[in-house]
Amino acid sequence: MDEKRLMAGLVEPTVERRPGMSSTTRRKLRVRFGYVAALVIIGLTVVLFLQPAPLLEVSTWSPMASKEEVWRSKTPIYEVEPKKGAASRPAHTSGRLVPFEAHIMSKCPDALDCLRDLVLPTMQQVVDKVNFTLSYIGRPTGDGGVECMHGPAECMGNILELCAHKLNPDPKIYLGFTMCISREYPRIPDRELIEGCALEHAVDFAALNECATRDDGQYAMNLLRDSVQHTKAVGVTKSCTVRLDNKVYCIRDDGEWKDCPAGPGVHDLIVNVEKLYRQNKA
Ligand SMILES: *[C@@H]1O[C@H](CO)[C@@H](O)[C@H](O)[C@H]1NC(C)=O
Repeated sequence: MDEKRLMAGLVEPTVERRPGMSSTTRRKLRVRFGYVAALVIIGLTVVLFLQPAPLLEVSTWSPMASKEEVWRSKTPIYEVEPKKGAASRPAHTSGRLVPFEAHIMSKCPDALDCLRDLVLPTMQQVVDKVNFTLSYIGRPTGDGGVECMHGPAECMGNILELCAHKLNPDPKIYLGFTMCISREYPRIPDRELIEGCALEHAVDFAALNECATRDDGQYAMNLLRDSVQHTKAVGVTKSCTVRLDNKVYCIRDDGEWKDCPAGPGVHDLIVNVEKLYRQNKA
């Protein structure tokens, strides 16, 4: 999804034929970004703060299920058996981790495709070899806020994903959570969706709530602002842009893969990561 074009108010006709987009959503896309930022803090307050929040009982978790098992159960393609030779190769000890980054917007269908079909299956294989970052696309405003293409609800979704990351540095956890809410992105930031995905991925919902509302939302807004400013600084405007070793590797835009010289295949991406990792070690 191209931020620039939409920002210019030129709604792509392709948006019209995307399934799952209600007329309300399409109308939202046309709304000028101008007053959206002002609503973000209000949205934050309304969605999370004002609701009586019976805090999630993390203790309802089966003590038998480790986070690793949860990740595996939610991601059937996880390779349970390590590859031949993998055990003898120390993953963390030597070599620079390969920078691997995805730039997304929480309510963007391209972000869902990109996470589900490329980023997650790749991460499941190379999690020990990459320095992974999930970054957000939006526009920093003069008053210290952020405007999001799909409105304050998307900013809220981005914030919840960033908070999940802050609370759970392990990519298996926060990527699992992000994937979970992305699957139903039109509902973001619906409380039941967030709570359900938090439970499913062992993210502490109370802590998530606290992160999103800390200092009247200023703490989380700063996380989002830093992230969108980073995205801007590296020249990325489309959700979803995947970068490997600080270079654009592949873009998912308007339901298609674009600018993917090495192809959008998971296997090819894994091969490229492993090649760069070996070079770093040498
Ligand atoms: C990962 O990348 C970030 C941003 O470049 C850097 O600050 C951090 O130290 C890196 N972490 C590792 C473990 O290499």
